[in-house]
Amino acid sequence: MKPENIELVQKSWFLIAQMDKKVLGKLFYTRLFKIAPEVKPMFNKRTMPAQYEKLLDMLSYIIHHVDHLDTIAENIAGLAKRHVAYGVKAEHYQAVGTALLWSLGQGFGKYWEEEFTVAWNEVYGIIAAKMIAAGIN
Ligand code: HEM
Repeated sequence: MKPENIELVQKSWFLIAQMDKKVLGKLFYTRLFKIAPEVKPMFNKRTMPAQYEKLLDMLSYIIHHVDHLDTIAENIAGLAKRHVAYGVKAEHYQAVGTALLWSLGQGFGKYWEEEFTVAWNEVYGIIAAKMIAAGIN
């Protein structure tokens, strides 16, 4: 992972923190369910109004662990196994990555920089690959 991409992902966290979480969550899930409608039933309907918190859990997880991924192999394995139990398949990681990048770009508009996209794609891709590998029994 390129050090400058790690730095960019962490820098963009500052921007994410400024954003209205509900708006960001709505953008993300609307997009995700449009491009991958089959994943909708995996999300708990009772907690749907707070679904944006799951997106934030995911973003926080990535950002806080990005520069020491080797030390959290067990956490990733646990997260990956829970995702298998949620019904998540390898191909869904692509859809989530696409929806994530799209909604970050939309949410920040002119403040979003192209280099954030490159950095997030790299970092998300690495964590997703680790989760997919760890989720395969
Ligand atoms: C790098 C990729 C991802 C990360 C870091 C991530 C992270 C998380 C975290 C931290 C949670 C909170 C609950 C827990 O810890 O088990 C969660 C829940 C969840 N994630 Fe992910 N996730 C990722 C990818 C995906 C993908 C590809 C899907 C497919 C649709 C997905 C679907 C879900 C669902 C269904 C839940 C639980 C929802 C519920 O309880 O209603 N995630 N994720």
